[in-house]
Amino acid sequence: MTIGIDKLNFFAPHLYVDLVDLATARGVEPAKYTIGIGQEKMAFPPLTQDTISMGANAALPIVSKEDAELIDLVILGTESGIDYSKAGATVIHQLLGVQPFARAIEIKQACYGATAGLLMAKDYIQSHPGRKALVIASDIARYGLATGGEVTQGAGAVAMLVSDNPKILALEDESVVYTDNIFDFWRPVYSDNALVDGKFSNEAYITFFSTVWEEYKRRTNRCLEDFEALCFHLPYSKMGKKALLPVLENDGATDSVKEKLLTNYEHSILHTKAIGNIYTGSLYLGLCSLLDNQPNLKDNQLIGLFSYGSGAVGEFFTGRLVPGFSDHLQTEAHHNLLNERQALTIPEYEAVFKEKLPQDGSEMKLDTQADPASICIEKITDHQRYYYKK
Ligand code: CAA
Repeated sequence: MTIGIDKLNFFAPHLYVDLVDLATARGVEPAKYTIGIGQEKMAFPPLTQDTISMGANAALPIVSKEDAELIDLVILGTESGIDYSKAGATVIHQLLGVQPFARAIEIKQACYGATAGLLMAKDYIQSHPGRKALVIASDIARYGLATGGEVTQGAGAVAMLVSDNPKILALEDESVVYTDNIFDFWRPVYSDNALVDGKFSNEAYITFFSTVWEEYKRRTNRCLEDFEALCFHLPYSKMGKKALLPVLENDGATDSVKEKLLTNYEHSILHTKAIGNIYTGSLYLGLCSLLDNQPNLKDNQLIGLFSYGSGAVGEFFTGRLVPGFSDHLQTEAHHNLLNERQALTIPEYEAVFKEKLPQDGSEMKLDTQADPASICIEKITDHQRYYYKK
């Protein structure tokens, strides 16, 4: 029996900031953002979107009525959840009409949370064939106006339906995970914005990748040549390449292996360049981007995935493209969503950045018509958010 990703979809809010505009406003040479960091646009959420609504919007097109009856697990991986206690997954469970005898939980370990969810879902299906799990990665990456991290913000969600005999990616059993207690990026409970030691976080990411990759090779006897593509957690589009290049050198990759992996890397970063960091979803946005933009992928090819969550946990795991996978992608919808967005001027972005839902229990009604998404926050009152499904 194979187990893995049966359906895959992402969502991003309809507003974005052009990073050339942002660089100009911040007095930075635009090439630093577009070439040095490798980002072009940054998705930005209106007040009508949060991690719950974005996650539900990502899942809505891939959860049929039949799926909703078979889902036993709804797992939300996020590090920008809205409640210390109640899991956002309980709301998503309701919005999608999932059968009531299901588990709904939220997992946190920075950008790694959804990977923990995906691998837990795989284990669950192993012991419950025929059932399904919905794994959602949803986040708003916020570092603050005019901070070093500002250019690496973003917002969005990825939803994955996990089942036996999946139609897109069959996950393999061997993976290597590595944990170390470090402070490279974190967000204390009293802070709206993340704190980060930028340079150290880059170094930690690179070290974690080489560490899990070395151990993976030792355990499996596989090498770079076995892989058609490697997908990375992408806090910005250059980050994965910074980790990949030293490994290509260290392993003495041939020119053809280098060309294959670097070409496919470029396909895997296109969605991130247009959206930015979506923390838990970034690795899976990279997978969507590879599948949506590289038409030469073939059935049964091996894809490696590197998940990294600051703090820190890193994991390398793998999957094979299922025969016929290309008939089950949401490529057209993804391109339409990206093309139909609206640019914010920098003053507009700064104004939306400062907007907040009330935190004193008072009521606020939101304009759901101004947001083209299917699911929006429509109201907050008594500290409870209400979601509207159009
Ligand atoms: N033209 C072209 N390139 C230029 C340039 C120009 N005019 N000016 C600068 N550059 C290049 C620099 O040479 C540099 O390239 P290299 O990285 O290849 O050396 C690149 O642009 C970035 O320049 P700086 O290092 O000077 O940038 P910075 O000090 O402003 O910081 C950052 C960049 C550390 C990524 C910062 O944006 C940040 O802190 N971001 C948040 C943290 C982050 O994303 N960390 C990633 C690893 S942690 C993780 O993965 C978890 C997570 O999701 C957060």
